[in-house]
Amino acid sequence: MADRQPTALITGGTGGFGIALARQLQARNFRIALADVDVDRGPEVAEELGALFVPLDVGDLAANHRAVALVETHYDALDAVFLNAGILGRQDPADPLDMPAYEAIVSANQHGVVYGIDAAVPALRRSGGGRIVVTASLAGLVPMAGDPFYSMTKSGAIAYSRAMAQRLVGEGITVTVVCPGFADTPMLGRLRPAFEQAGFPILTAEEVAAALVLAHDEGGAGSAYVVQPGMPPTPYRFPNVPAARDPQGAHVAVPTGLSAHPPADHDDDNA
Ligand SMILES: NC(=O)c1ccc[n+]([C@@H]2O[C@H](COP(=O)([O-])OP(=O)(O)OC[C@H]3O[C@@H](n4cnc5c(N)ncnc54)[C@H](O)[C@@H]3O)[C@@H](O)[C@H]2O)c1
Repeated sequence: MADRQPTALITGGTGGFGIALARQLQARNFRIALADVDVDRGPEVAEELGALFVPLDVGDLAANHRAVALVETHYDALDAVFLNAGILGRQDPADPLDMPAYEAIVSANQHGVVYGIDAAVPALRRSGGGRIVVTASLAGLVPMAGDPFYSMTKSGAIAYSRAMAQRLVGEGITVTVVCPGFADTPMLGRLRPAFEQAGFPILTAEEVAAALVLAHDEGGAGSAYVVQPGMPPTPYRFPNVPAARDPQGAHVAVPTGLSAHPPADHDDDNA
């Protein structure tokens, strides 16, 4: 990163994690742009924080590019992008394929990551490299039966980010993922009393924000941090998959070109 004051763009920026993250990054001298679809609250939240507000529906590709352009114009450069916007599924067990609910969550949670990376990469290249941190969820690592659309989109966010991390690491662009458990933000909403009643610990937004900062500062390309109450953010070790074997039973590697070379600092043991 250059000697100038660094700039971070946070999508879902005026939500629980977004605000906590903005404060922690500001304490580290970052200039902040908060991008959010909530244009009613957004400008006021951003003003209180001394941040730039960028109206953005992350499910709109052109709007992602416009948002990045706006940040570059306002702050001259972009160094870190936190793709953090997301929603829960509103999947009714009586109507598991509720199309509007399905399309809405794919748009926010999946397109938001794919389009966000597409828009961020040219700007990070112009800065000579940078960091992309994606807020996924534990629900992307383990099945969340209460919200299968959510599990699917978060799993996709993890897979896409890790694959893109391999492609981008050679350009000095590091993509990492954070997978929080349940946390105390507006998203938890009406589920909160059930957690309290069961005595189940929930994370604070500040704890998750600290994990996002850690992933930004230290995460190797394609690494994914699990965040759970009562423990520090922990790099998740993805399980190995059985390798292909030739007719003699020896392991064979995937041909070059079909699989990107794992980056040097890739910290799992997948082949
Ligand atoms: N709170 C939790 O328990 C928890 C756990 C794991 C992962 N997460 C993930 O963390 C991220 C942040 O969630 P949060 O807990 O801060 O929730 P939140 O509801 O407080 O904030 C989410 C923000 O995203 C914005 N948003 C929603 N759809 C958008 C869109 N299409 N375009 C732009 N902005 C949009 C909302 O307006 C809101 O400000 C989400 O991706 C969520 O899935 C949350």
